[in-house]
Amino acid sequence: MPRKIAAGNWKMNGTRASLAELSAIATAHPAPSVEVLICPPATLLARATDAGAVALGGQDCHAKTSGAHTGDVSAEMLADAGASYCLTGHSERRTDHAEDDATVAAKSQAAYDAGLTAVICIGETLAEREAGTTLDIITGQLNGSVPLTATATNTVIAYEPVWAIGTGLVPTTDQIAEVHAHIRTHLADKDIPLLYGGSVKASNAAEIFAVPNVDGALVGGASLKAEDFSPIITALENA
Ligand code: PGA
Repeated sequence: MPRKIAAGNWKMNGTRASLAELSAIATAHPAPSVEVLICPPATLLARATDAGAVALGGQDCHAKTSGAHTGDVSAEMLADAGASYCLTGHSERRTDHAEDDATVAAKSQAAYDAGLTAVICIGETLAEREAGTTLDIITGQLNGSVPLTATATNTVIAYEPVWAIGTGLVPTTDQIAEVHAHIRTHLADKDIPLLYGGSVKASNAAEIFAVPNVDGALVGGASLKAEDFSPIITALENA
């Protein structure tokens, strides 16, 4: 069985004061029965290691280990700062930084090489869904973004429909089930955890976690405050 993961992506939000939220999450779940992961901004990673029983992740890494890449952060640096995970291929990276599948695969491999688990994000746009090409898009992203060396230890897949991110729109449970079943069938290692992401909140988490092949969630907005994220963790523990 894939392990269950409640993951938070703080995106470009958070200063030192936000570490209190992290501590509050850790305090509310001192011995969680699911993995709890927070991906704060890279600036907070090293300080966040004091928060307690919460795994930490970067939100992006460079494909190279070091060198002349101003402003970038390597997977090795993230690991050194206390991360055990790194998001790769988030749709905001694919859009804002024109990252293609090959770049995402190279970054995911860099994460593996640094001993990190890559949370590889995939998902269709609204236009792609309306054109009926969702499963083809997902297949293409899996083929292009997931290294052949992916295992249940070094990889998590996050299915995040682009149109559901930060919009309050959520696919139907049938739509989530269809895509997750497709991803599960496609992956060589059937124990790779599959997360759903896109407008997950306390009020819809239990329904989403009941969908077959959903092993957890990647949560943006509702991961910033302990009072919003904690019930999502509990919903996954109870799923
Ligand atoms: P959201 O973001 O929960 O705010 O929709 C999800 C994500 O981008 O990972």
